[in-house]
Amino acid sequence: MKILGVESSCDETGVALVEFAGRAMPRLLAHALHSQADMHEAYGGVVPELASRDHIRRVIPLTRQVLEEAGVHRREIDLVAFTQGPGLAGALLVGAGFAAALGQALGRPTLPVHHLEGHLLSPFLSADPPAFPFVALLVSGGHTQLMRVQAVGHYELLGETIDDAAGEAFDKSAKLLGLGYPGGPALARLAERGRPDAFALPRPLMHQGGLDFSFAGLKTAVMTQHRKLGPAPAPQALSDLAASTQAAIVDVLVHKSMAALRQTGLRRLVVAGGVGANAELRARLGEACAARGVRIHYPELSLCTDNGAMIAMAAAMRLQAGLVGAQAGAEALASRSFEVRPRWPLETC
Ligand code: KG4
Ligand code: ZN
Repeated sequence: MKILGVESSCDETGVALVEFAGRAMPRLLAHALHSQADMHEAYGGVVPELASRDHIRRVIPLTRQVLEEAGVHRREIDLVAFTQGPGLAGALLVGAGFAAALGQALGRPTLPVHHLEGHLLSPFLSADPPAFPFVALLVSGGHTQLMRVQAVGHYELLGETIDDAAGEAFDKSAKLLGLGYPGGPALARLAERGRPDAFALPRPLMHQGGLDFSFAGLKTAVMTQHRKLGPAPAPQALSDLAASTQAAIVDVLVHKSMAALRQTGLRRLVVAGGVGANAELRARLGEACAARGVRIHYPELSLCTDNGAMIAMAAAMRLQAGLVGAQAGAEALASRSFEVRPRWPLETC
């Protein structure tokens, strides 16, 4: 069975083709991605209307590219999966509308996918796929969550951020330091030359018993320290502040992930979402997990941030798990309607 996956929830248009037979692990035939980061950089963040318009421009050429690379004709697509939410309403509508139209034209069903389920299951496309059950640390631009994952579709929320997401903490701190958008990778690069203990920054909720996160206070602390550096800070001071900020975020993420593993008694950790690409986080989690005999799994680096492959993969795994029959798609096809869910808790999907 060949599934086309379409992702358009934020500022990346992603299209991919995944194939599976029976219960065998689905494999990626081709994927293509267009990041709008350069377009939004001038505004210091994602401009929703511009994002929607750019998705419209990109989605068809990217689909053609994927089919060509895979050597597959569009008539061979068995199902079109798309990100239904959470995300920007207008951006989601582009992917949903495209999927509905393509499904209709081909006489094939469509399948709505939860964006975070895509991130969560993306490591199954890697060379070292995890096994169920596991603890998942989901760290993206909009979400920071710890989940207990029993099986496909069985997700229990253990803890989440009560304010900013980890990615947002990276992005907002980077903006304060005068770095471009998206701030995470830029801040990580600057941090390479800095001392992580140069500035004492808060690690909110780290030593409270629960598994919730709070990152909003961190950006205020970064702002205060940045002001103290004066109007023309020395490059080394900026690197030190970047390294200290990254260390504060990473400390909390590592600490809470270990607490979640202790609490659940599970010995497997999956890390997914854009912040999972952070080298310092990977190094620190690697050490902490090795010390506790915990196996750690990541998606391929190129599939850490938003992409269509994870959407096609989540659809394939839901089908394999029997969570959606052809019926759901047939109903959608019959109604010729589509809807998006900009806010959609993962536990309910
Ligand atoms: O999962 P993702 O691509 O999009 C959302 O679903 O939000 O995550 C984007 C987030 C942004 O906040 C970005 O700054 C962050 O992931 N990010 C990183 C790195 N690469 C991406 N943060 C820290 N270090 C990185 N290397
Ligand atoms: Zn994402």
